[in-house]
Amino acid sequence: MQIRSAEFKCSNTRTEKLPPPTLPEYAFIGRSNVGKSSLINMLTGKKGLAKTSQTPGKTQLINHFLINENWYVVDLPGYGYAKVSRSSREEWERFIRYYIRNRESLQCVFVLIDSRLEPQKPDLKFCSWLGEEGIPFLLVFTKADKQSKVKTMGNVAKFNKAMLEYFEEVPAIYITSSETQEGREEILATIDDINKG
Ligand code: GTP
Ligand code: MG
Repeated sequence: MQIRSAEFKCSNTRTEKLPPPTLPEYAFIGRSNVGKSSLINMLTGKKGLAKTSQTPGKTQLINHFLINENWYVVDLPGYGYAKVSRSSREEWERFIRYYIRNRESLQCVFVLIDSRLEPQKPDLKFCSWLGEEGIPFLLVFTKADKQSKVKTMGNVAKFNKAMLEYFEEVPAIYITSSETQEGREEILATIDDINKG
């Protein structure tokens, strides 16, 4: 799919103020600092579109970006960020869960996983929650440029194995790098297919 336009639409702290659910929407979620905002910039080809940072917890709002004037990418705050207070973390988690459960235009959730790490509990827990809720999701392994292919594939295999304790089959997997653009075409093709119904 060609990206002809990508523009910031709105930032929200409350679901009531989200844009009307009239266009297909794809949410990107994962732990703080996993590379959600960078991936959105890489996919859209617009470097400064979503704010990125070396400091975890940068994205604290639900940000909507309108792509090709006919679908939305949504940048969600990261889960599991230790430096915010427990109560505000819990409030955010409630909010994000509410959004994911109730957003009728949400087509699927892209769950981002750091490809450098062995399977992490918060990721597995979040995926199992999506499964219980019947929310379609896909797995995106990020930062593949940071280590060898062998290391990446080893961590992917371990994650798959851990997922099989919760699921009968593992969802689609994408290996990505915001630096080298690995995985870009595959993710855009998936979104294009869903948009076309
Ligand atoms: P929060 O909004 O804080 O939850 O973080 P985020 O998930 O949006 O992460 P962000 O995109 O801000 O990236 C975090 C850091 O990782 C930044 O320093 C990025 O430059 C770096 N980074 C993200 N993706 C990649 C990647 O594919 N390769 C490399 N080498 N660095 C990456
Ligand atoms: Mg971010």
